[in-house]
Amino acid sequence: MAQIIAGLGTSHVPAIGAALDLGRTEEPYWQPLFNGYGPAQEWLARVDPDVVILVYNDHGTAFSLEVIPTFAIGVAREFPPADEGWGPRPVPVVQGHPKLAWHLAESLILDEFDLTIVNEMDVDHGLTVPLSVTCGQPEAWPFPVVPLSVNVIQYPPPTGKRCFDLGRAIRKAVEAYDEDLRVVIFGTGGMSHQLHGERAGVINSDFDRRFLDDLTRDPQRLIDLPHIEYVREAGAEGIELVMWLIMRGALNRDITEVYRHYHVPASNTATGLIIFENEAEGAPLARAS
Ligand code: DHB
Ligand code: FE
Repeated sequence: MAQIIAGLGTSHVPAIGAALDLGRTEEPYWQPLFNGYGPAQEWLARVDPDVVILVYNDHGTAFSLEVIPTFAIGVAREFPPADEGWGPRPVPVVQGHPKLAWHLAESLILDEFDLTIVNEMDVDHGLTVPLSVTCGQPEAWPFPVVPLSVNVIQYPPPTGKRCFDLGRAIRKAVEAYDEDLRVVIFGTGGMSHQLHGERAGVINSDFDRRFLDDLTRDPQRLIDLPHIEYVREAGAEGIELVMWLIMRGALNRDITEVYRHYHVPASNTATGLIIFENEAEGAPLARAS
């Protein structure tokens, strides 16, 4: 049986990918941010998952305002990095896991989550930056990835409750898979940021820190948090944080927070990273400092 052994939440700011690609991580502006990724990279290398389910949002790259799937699962063999206007990022092609992806599609759709099935898709910074901050700059990504895209671009995005429930259904599907796979699930996006309009540049560290606290100990408050509260408190693009609830829903009720990193600013945003291990594993898998 496959098992979800851990979850990881992280921001996906495109400027972080550019800083890495251009060799600027040691610059004074970027160094404190990248220092915080080191322990997460060590943790992930130690855990060495067989596959990662990566929940993210496309930013009008593979999809557009012509077609807006609320949830879409990538079942392809591979997913090339997208050209977002200045050429594709110089990162490896993402290898998919078609067998697990099709199993998830079948289980989730029969469980009444109406996912869009995607056979061909380029992946933008929403997916590649989380891989970069957790894996560094390898020749090939160290594990296959099942991409699960969520619409948080065009109103209405799914509710926090729907996202959490999808996470639970993902866990159920994984546990019904007929191979021993150790699965880590990523929830990505956020944290507080707004990129346009009068409130462009809004950052709310109090909101972000409470979000991280509640994700660990009181996810119910976040399940009940209406969209308007994210927009009011964390800026219009802060709504990306609902995707972290899919990750949290796929884990046990009681989990161990093994690592947290929060840093302001990166570009116009606050950035966060958090790692949870499922306590049912017995002893925690690893403890980052
Ligand atoms: C930016 C874009 C994003 O998608 C995001 O999540 C954070 C920041 C940006 O363009 O700066
Ligand atoms: Fe984004």
